[in-house]
Amino acid sequence: MQIKQAVVVITGGASGLGLATARQALLEGARVALFDRNAEVLAVAHELGASARAAVVDVTDEASVTQALDQVVQAWGSVHALVNCAGIGAASRTVGKQGPMPLAQFAQVIQVNLVGSFNMARLVAARMAMNEPNAEGERGCIVHTASVAAFEGQIGQVAYSASKGGIVGMTLPMARDLAGLGIRVNTVAPGIFDTPLMQASPDEVKQPLIAMTQFPKRLGHPEEYARLVLHILQNTFMNGETVRIDGAIRMAPR
Ligand SMILES: NC(=O)c1ccc[n+]([C@@H]2O[C@H](COP(=O)([O-])OP(=O)(O)OC[C@H]3O[C@@H](n4cnc5c(N)ncnc54)[C@H](O)[C@@H]3O)[C@@H](O)[C@H]2O)c1
Repeated sequence: MQIKQAVVVITGGASGLGLATARQALLEGARVALFDRNAEVLAVAHELGASARAAVVDVTDEASVTQALDQVVQAWGSVHALVNCAGIGAASRTVGKQGPMPLAQFAQVIQVNLVGSFNMARLVAARMAMNEPNAEGERGCIVHTASVAAFEGQIGQVAYSASKGGIVGMTLPMARDLAGLGIRVNTVAPGIFDTPLMQASPDEVKQPLIAMTQFPKRLGHPEEYARLVLHILQNTFMNGETVRIDGAIRMAPR
C-alpha cells in the first residue's frame, strides 16, 4: 500500500513503539490516528501536528473503539492501516510466594494484549472492507505486535507470553480470513526496546537482557521497530507472517 495520504490507526500511540510508529508514518506522508487509554495521547497528537489526531480509547471496549473509528472515518474518509501497539505486562509466576497467580491477573493480560488486538482488528477490518481496492486489489493492512516472549517467555512471564503467543497464533488464520477482502495481516515480535517501560527498569533487569542480545549489544531503538512496520505496510507480498526484530536475542529462563 502507498503510505502517502494513507490513514493509519495506531493503538498505544501515546508512548514507546506506537509513538515512534506515528512519527515515522508522518515522515512518510501518512495521516495517523492515535488510540490510547491514556489521556496524554491528546497532547501527543497535538504536538505531532495537523496530520495527527487522537482519541482516548480502551482497545478492549467495543463501544469506545467504534466511536473513535467513526470519528476517524468522518474526518478522513476511511482507514487503510491498523498498527496494534497497546499492551501491558505482568510479572507473576504460576505459583509464587503468595500462592497461585490470581486468575484475574492472568485474564487481564490476555484481555488487553490478545482480546484487545483482535477487537481492534475485527472492527477496523470491517471498515477496510468498504475501501475502494487499489490496483492490486488491496483494501488494507493490519500489523500486530507480539514479543520474543511469545517464543521463549521467561520465569514470571506466563500471562504475557500466553497473550503474545495468541497473537502469533491468530496471525495466519486472520490473514486467511481477510484475504478475500484484500486485507493483509502480519505480526512483529520485538526483542528488548528502549521505551519508557524499559527505561524505568533497574540496571539488574536491563543488563542481563542486553547480554542475551547477540548483536548489537544494546536495546532496540523504537525507530527500528517503526521502520519495519512501515516496510510491512508497503510490501504487498508480506502476509500471514510473524517477523522477529531482536538482535538475535533468545531469552534464557531468567
Ligand atoms: N518495549 C519492549 O521492549 C517491547 C518488547 C516486546 C514487545 N513489546 C510490545 O510492544 C507494545 C508497545 O510497547 P511499549 O514498550 O511501547 O509500551 P508502552 O507502555 O510505552 O506503550 C503502551 C501503550 O499502550 C497503552 N495501553 C495499554 N492498555 C491499553 C488499552 N486497554 N487500551 C488502549 N491503550 C492501552 C498505554 O497507555 C501505553 O501508552 C506492547 O504490546 C508490548 O507488549 C514491547
